[in-house]
Order: sequence, then structure tokens, then C-alpha cells
Amino acid sequence: MKAVHTPWYMNAIFYEVHIRAYRDSNRDGIGDIPGLISKLDYIKDLGVDCIWILPIYPSPLKDDGYDIADYYGVLPDYGTLEDFKTLIKEAHKRDLHVIADLVLNHTSDQHPWFQASRSDPNSKYRDYYVWSDTDDKYSEARIIFLDTEVSNWTFDEKAGMYYWHRFYASQPDLNYDNPAVIEEMRQVMKFWLDMGIDGFRADAVPYLIEREGTNCENLPETHQILKSFRAYLDENYEGKILLAEANQWPEDVLPYFGDGDEFHMGFHFPVMPRIFMAIRKGDASPIRWIMSQTPDIPEDTQWCIFLRNHDELTLEMVTEEERQWMWAEYAPLPRMRLNLGIRRRLAPLLDNDQRKILLANALLYALPGAPIIYYGDEIGMGDNIWLPDRNGVRTPMQWNDHTNAGFSEANPEELYAPVIDTDEFTYRKVNVEQAAKDPDSTLNKMRALIKIRKSNPVFALGDYRFLAENHTECLVILRTYQDQHILCALNLTDRQQELTLHLPDLVGKRMHDLVSDKYHGRITSTETSLHLEPYGFFWLVCQD
Ligand code: GLC
Ligand code: CA
Repeated sequence: MKAVHTPWYMNAIFYEVHIRAYRDSNRDGIGDIPGLISKLDYIKDLGVDCIWILPIYPSPLKDDGYDIADYYGVLPDYGTLEDFKTLIKEAHKRDLHVIADLVLNHTSDQHPWFQASRSDPNSKYRDYYVWSDTDDKYSEARIIFLDTEVSNWTFDEKAGMYYWHRFYASQPDLNYDNPAVIEEMRQVMKFWLDMGIDGFRADAVPYLIEREGTNCENLPETHQILKSFRAYLDENYEGKILLAEANQWPEDVLPYFGDGDEFHMGFHFPVMPRIFMAIRKGDASPIRWIMSQTPDIPEDTQWCIFLRNHDELTLEMVTEEERQWMWAEYAPLPRMRLNLGIRRRLAPLLDNDQRKILLANALLYALPGAPIIYYGDEIGMGDNIWLPDRNGVRTPMQWNDHTNAGFSEANPEELYAPVIDTDEFTYRKVNVEQAAKDPDSTLNKMRALIKIRKSNPVFALGDYRFLAENHTECLVILRTYQDQHILCALNLTDRQQELTLHLPDLVGKRMHDLVSDKYHGRITSTETSLHLEPYGFFWLVCQD
């Protein structure tokens, strides 16, 4: 049966870490690989299965490492390849998987390929990038970094031509019509897989190929290339995964799973803003709607679901009206907005209200898929909207109330970014050491939720059915897998709610709340009532 052979990522919980931000081991004010290694026990204790680390490669850091200058090394600030091998070894020792970013679409303009490409028309590297004599090709492609870029083309003096880039001008797009580029990336994959990593979060995959007359996203040729990477992985490695970053509607993400022969996993972007909408509006409809738009995916493929990540909270997958509403509600200060999104962390977004933070997580975990937790959100860390770009959600992890929040022993002035020290979110209050001691802390409550989520595969793998659809203030979702049933009832409002449920299929079963570990009565043939506290929730396992 499926339960026996389910691959590890199907019922997994991920933890996203920025090495720069996590722990500095050598007092230079910058987090590093040995620092992360020293915190693996903490990560293990959270109950997660897999760490996703942001780019660690040599880079001029114009996009915090997503602009790679050398795919085969480690940024010296972060350590060495040896350190990286140690990280993998130490993680595996603790039964933790590690995946890393694979940035396929573009390199840094400092990459030797681009330097050769622009300098010498006869170099084999000229054709590694997308050049044009004019800047009017592919005009239907949108601009992603709207706040900074005016065009996807930039003129290069040296080449005397324009080059194509979907992100910053310092990130020229690779030319995937050139088979040599595909081969280069296969070598990059091989290098890191041979070092023992468990897979890749493949960055910005929709944009590999450009074609005139299209928006240059999700093209069939792009899927062909991605499938060839998957085939390479399957032929040479076992148990390793590819996770797609395709910020698209579910129907457009579906092809990234192929027939189970493209990506193992894909982020579910559009459900994320709708969780925030639902909690602010006290209305479950946005979630029910987006789930109704979410197709079934092939066997042994899985959605990755999340509340926040290292980027702005993207509002690309909502209507214009919804976007304006989200901005008005969640980003009242212009400084909180970035591109088509919101640069804030989970706790500040949810008014630093622990009930809402736990509700958001409980709602996320109640959906099918593999949840990802963004570092710091498990302790309710704040943000710093005054830092440039997305740096405000990438500040140092807060370990304790010592200088620099225990992140570093460097002088505070030397830190890559200041620790959060506002009244409400100061590291003196919000830190791991403090939270670990307090049984009612967000950290301890998150740990408990994670544990329950993990040990009941029905959450990750089961079918779902929405109930009580007329009672829109609550999200009620029945999860079923084999003979296991979990009824999740979540109150999206700040008022008490009385729910009345009809559960003919479950008559006679006893309900036990997994969160409070309390018996909740038997389901009868008539109505079953539940009383929910403001922003409260139950995860009721229904058994004989
Ligand atoms: C992805 C990353 C983002 C980066 C962009 C360009 O969207 O998540 O941080 O800026 O790709 O590489
Ligand atoms: Ca360091």
C-alpha cells in the first residue's frame, strides 16, 4: 500500500534557512555554515524533516546570492566546500535532509560566462545568453521586479547589444535554446548531488525559454528541458528531489509535475495570500475557492505550502481588487510594499497575536501538502521595513537576549544587518532561549502542532472535503486517508462560533482533539455541535 512506500518528501515538513542570517561562528558579523551546523539540534527539535538553504555560492550579492558568479563554490563569508560537506554529514546524522537552491534561469553579470559572452562575439559563451540588437523582442513578457527595472532588456556597452533578464539587470538570463547551457546545468546538479545533497529548490523555472508572441512563461520547450533534468536525476540518483518555484496559478503549475516525470514538488503560491485574506475577513471562502481551482496532481508528487518566505509576500496570484485590499489591510505604510507584494514577516502581519499565528499555521497544516516554515517565524520574529529590498525579513535569528541576540559575537556595528530591537519585537523578549522555557510560547506550540502533523499522515496525504459551507466564519475541513479521519475546524473570527455539523459518514465515531489531547464527544446521527473560541481551532481525530 501507499503508506508503506510513500517517499520521504510526501509527508515532510521543511524549514527554510538563510545561512547569512542564522548563526555567525567566526565573529565577522555574517552567518556561516559552521554556525548553521551548531544549530542543527535546534532544527531537529522543531520536528522538521528537511532544510532548504538559500544560495551559498560566490556572488556579488546584488540579489542576496541569487546572482551566482560561480556554481561550484561557496561564498567565503559562508565557509568552504569542506564545511558544506560537514553540514550534509551532520544533517544526515540527525535524519535531516538538505536541499539547496538551483538557480537555472540566470547568472550574475560577474559570472565568467557572461564576461566572456559580452566581450567576445566569437567566444562559445556568446550564445550562453540571450542577445539582441534591439530591445523590442518578447514585449509580452511582464517585468517582475517592477520597483527597480523598467525593461527586461539592458544595453551592454561592451557587446554593443541588449541582453535579456527577467530579474535585476545584474542577472542576465541564460539561453536555454543552447544545448551547451543545459549540459552546464546538468554538471552543476551532478557536483552538488555527488556532495550528498538531497535535492534542489529550482528557482524561477517558468522563464527558461523565450518565444515571440508569448508571455515567455511556462512554455512547452521549458517543460522539455526541466523533464530532461528530472530524467538525469532519476537515472543517476535515488531519493533526491526537485522542487519547483513557479509563482503561477495551480492549473499552470500542474504541468510542472508532468506525468510524475518533471518535478516531485511545487510551491502552491496562490493559497498563501488567501490564508491572510481569510483570517482578516473572517471568511473561509477565499480558501475554499482556491482549493476548488487546485487540480489533483500525479501520484508521488506533492505541493509545498507556506505562509511566508524570504521574498515579499507576493500578490501576483490575486485579482487587482484583492491586491489593493491586501495592501490596505496588511501594508498600510508604503514602505511595507515591494513590487507586487508585502515585505513583512508573519508575526507583524498577524498583529503579533499568538492566536492568529497559531491559527494560520493550523490552517496551513490542515491542507494537503508539505508545509515550509520560514526561519524565525516559529518564534514570532519581527521585521525591519526600513532595510532595502527584501532584507527586512532576513535579519539575524534571535537566539537569546545577549548582545546581537546570540547570533554573533562581533561588534553590533559589524553585523550584516541589525537585529530587531523594537519595543514589540525586541530580541530581548523574542528569542529561542526564552521561548523554549515557556510552555505557552509560540515556539513550543508550533513544535506540538508540527509533531501532530507529522505523526498523522492523513494531513499531508489524505483527501479533503469542506463542510459547513454556509458557516463562512469558520473553515471546516474533513481529511481522510485510508481509514483515518481528521476533522479540522478553525474559527477565522475574533468572536465565539457555534458550529453545527452533519456527519452522516462518521456516526458513532468518537472525536478526540489532537491539540488539547481531550475527548470531544461522540458523533451522533443528528447534529454535532462544536464551540470555537475566537481564532480557536480543533483538529479532531474521529475513531471508533
Ligand atoms: C526567486 C527567489 C528570489 C530571487 C529571484 C531571482 O524568486 O525566491 O529571492 O530574487 O528568484 O533569482
Ligand atoms: Ca561568520
